[in-house]
Amino acid sequence: MKFYNDILGVIGRTPLVRVNHLTKQHNIKATILAKMESLNPGYSVKDRIGVSMVDWAEKEGVLKPGGTIIEATSGNTGIGLALVAGVRGYKCIFVLTEKVSVEKMRYLKSLGADIVVCPAAAKHGTPDHYVETAKRISREVPNSFYPDQYYHPANPAAHYRTTGPEIWEDTDGKITHFVSGIGTGGTISGTGRYLKEKNPNIKIIGADPYGSIFKTYKDSGHVPEATPYLVEGIGQSLPVGNADMKIIDDILNITDRESFEYARLLSRREGIFCGGSTGTNFAAALKVAEPLDEDAIVVFIVCDTGEHYLSKFHSDEWMKEKLLLEPQRITAGLIAETKNSGAPGELIYVNPGDLVSDALAKMNQSGVTQIPVIEDNRSVGSLRESRVLQKLLKNRDLLDSTVGDVMDESFPVIEVDTNLNAIKVKLQKAPAVLIEDFKRITGIITRSDVLELDR
Ligand SMILES: Cc1ncc(COP(=O)(O)O)c(C=O)c1O
Repeated sequence: MKFYNDILGVIGRTPLVRVNHLTKQHNIKATILAKMESLNPGYSVKDRIGVSMVDWAEKEGVLKPGGTIIEATSGNTGIGLALVAGVRGYKCIFVLTEKVSVEKMRYLKSLGADIVVCPAAAKHGTPDHYVETAKRISREVPNSFYPDQYYHPANPAAHYRTTGPEIWEDTDGKITHFVSGIGTGGTISGTGRYLKEKNPNIKIIGADPYGSIFKTYKDSGHVPEATPYLVEGIGQSLPVGNADMKIIDDILNITDRESFEYARLLSRREGIFCGGSTGTNFAAALKVAEPLDEDAIVVFIVCDTGEHYLSKFHSDEWMKEKLLLEPQRITAGLIAETKNSGAPGELIYVNPGDLVSDALAKMNQSGVTQIPVIEDNRSVGSLRESRVLQKLLKNRDLLDSTVGDVMDESFPVIEVDTNLNAIKVKLQKAPAVLIEDFKRITGIITRSDVLELDR
């Protein structure tokens, strides 16, 4: 019979997968391989360190039966630790920042963990910071173990013992470049150290979000002021113990836009459904691979699964809100669905048989200066306040006539999947466009709705 004694046995030995379409598209000659850490049972690279740190604590007698594991985490280490806690009968409390996706928070709760959420803006060293909060809770809870993944040697040791050898063996020792993000630094330092020991010519490349300090710190020794960015799990505002700058040859800065774009592309074009930090790594891998020839083998880490970010960068609505969505994916339907802060109102319109006075009152009440005239789900005309008022100045009696008598031509009608660029062309000539979906007029987009997208 072939089975594992428990789920922890499934951790590691993840496969390498070649990236095909996206390398071809970029005219890359080198082979780029994805190390599929998203296939671990907790769907991230962090499962490896969860077990490793708990094994250490049990061996050292720090963690005793019935004890509680307390850790500051961007979610994935918490998931890795919660798996061990479940299997071995520990309780766990994880301290996160509000930046962590709701999917990861729910996942942690489903695994039986308690979670505490701290403000993302709290500065390092202040009581509200998530690391300080985790430390305080661990002092207050008896029989607890605070692994401190940022400094615990069992974190890089797990990658030195497993991730590094797996990559070395699976590439028959032919790997030339290893690319990884730096959160705690465990993955890059442990894997990098093993690979360098095997072959000092292997280049170890860090992928760092713009806003994080690692690139400047590595290049100049100076720690700059960190600025906010959206990618989760990597980058820091201060150096951390497990990020060993000596192992790293070079660090590349990657924007949020690139990270999310490449994570989305990996999912769509290669079927590698991944998180944002994987996009950061892949964007860096492409830059590294660009000048390399056929002999080069670039391995990058797929840190975690896209499932953790379905409500974030894998959602067009979220990407649009953050002004990160590619224009060809911003469609009329999406604009209408998400305008007014995501509370789509019903289409406001008048009928050709309505009285002009009633139509003006309706426009006034709804705060609009233009309104479509709809009959049987078809657009038959439009009223534009300035033009109607102009006509009324000449002939006040028109107030008692019908909309059909004074209306102007209809706003242009576009299909629900028309993209932003095409909508902008229409709005050069008309003040608004109407959206048609299955032969029904379902919404309106005005010039100001589109200007709002370019805030
Ligand atoms: C999504 C994600 N990517 C990457 C990393 C970085 O890995 P490491 O902490 O080993 O540097 C983390 C760590 O928390 C993470 O959660």
